[in-house]
Amino acid sequence: MTDPITPTYIPGFGNHVSTEAIPGALPIGRNSPQRPAFGLYTEQLSGTAFTAPRHENRRSWLYRMRPTAEHPPFEAYEGAKRFAPGTADTPLPPNRLRWDPLPLPGGERVDLVDGMTTMLTNRHPADLEGVAMHVYAATKDMDARVFMDADGELLFIPEQGRLELLTELGRIEVAPGQVALVPRGVRFKALLPDGQARGYVAENHGALFRLPDLGPIGANGLANPRDFETPVAWFEDRDEPTEVIQKFMGSLWTTTLDHSPLDVVAWHGNLAPWRYDLSRFNTINTVSFDHPDPSIFTVLTSPSDVPGRANADFVIFPPRWMVAEGTFRPPWFHRNVMSEAMGLITGAYDAKAEGFQPGGISLHNIMSGHGPDVASWQGASAADLKPHKIEGTMAFMLESCWAYRPTDYALTHAQLDYDAVWADFPKATLPRS
Ligand SMILES: [Fe+2]
Repeated sequence: MTDPITPTYIPGFGNHVSTEAIPGALPIGRNSPQRPAFGLYTEQLSGTAFTAPRHENRRSWLYRMRPTAEHPPFEAYEGAKRFAPGTADTPLPPNRLRWDPLPLPGGERVDLVDGMTTMLTNRHPADLEGVAMHVYAATKDMDARVFMDADGELLFIPEQGRLELLTELGRIEVAPGQVALVPRGVRFKALLPDGQARGYVAENHGALFRLPDLGPIGANGLANPRDFETPVAWFEDRDEPTEVIQKFMGSLWTTTLDHSPLDVVAWHGNLAPWRYDLSRFNTINTVSFDHPDPSIFTVLTSPSDVPGRANADFVIFPPRWMVAEGTFRPPWFHRNVMSEAMGLITGAYDAKAEGFQPGGISLHNIMSGHGPDVASWQGASAADLKPHKIEGTMAFMLESCWAYRPTDYALTHAQLDYDAVWADFPKATLPRS
């Protein structure tokens, strides 16, 4: 069933979906019939513990051509040396860091898995908390192999080139300006409709991403549930050797099946991939004065055990009107008990005049002083405060209560002079006494 038909989606976030690629494949009235239709195998995929409260509980039932259980042992995967390189235990410097975008591979073409570079991690996956930031730069389709992450759900944030994610639960096409999520444990392969692709992946080891509470904002606003799109069931019937690469407890493993595991003919449940177009985000901002806390830009949150303290927040800085009166309009100087990793999908970020490029990353860990650079501060301090629309930009932040640790690759490839953007601020001039 590898037809070129445009993927079809069902709107809504966290809905209980029922979908079948062949009529009659989905059992009615029970999850595990004695003899499923067509000799399919029934499998439950749990995203939360069985006993999670109902409003937290996420699982789906899959009806597939062969059981996932049928596979040879996994062995260590020797490729993708910059993906999941392990956790160092050396002291973590408190320095602010910034990275240029990764160049697209020039020589031998690489697929999404081998083109992945882990930049920041902040907990071991075994902790079931924390978030990692990876970047990918890929130049070929995943061919005869699939990937699966047992360590967390994957939020894809493309920066260049579309990805077509062929997952066990359906096909998703995601372009720069959109994001897509693949749940923990769901196997998929990534095709590159534009021949190459680059972007970010947030890997969430903790509580599943959900929409944030809206408080006084009310019943609507920010990311609206109806704008999330879950694919309908799709499968491929391929009896050809297929490598399965699995990330498990921070390491990569491989085994080979004699068939494609993308053979789920029907499924139902509320644990599923989705995509979301960031341009649908209903941005809320001040219409009086002051720059509100950036939490107003939260698209998704993964809570920790402490109320209000996110394991990970996915926050965007989208095009928006700036109308604040008597206000320094860009993000202010601050020091944060949370740790901030930022990326840029397109355009320029309003607190950094230069040096932060699309595809790049900046890191401000716990209590790092940061804020606008000198040029941005000078510009905004002198600006004529007319209503102004910030256009053509989309930055994002992955904010976490856990300090990020750059990988060895990241530490040896950081910009050398990031601190200089905050050098040479003029000293305040106090009145003479
Ligand atoms: Fe910040």
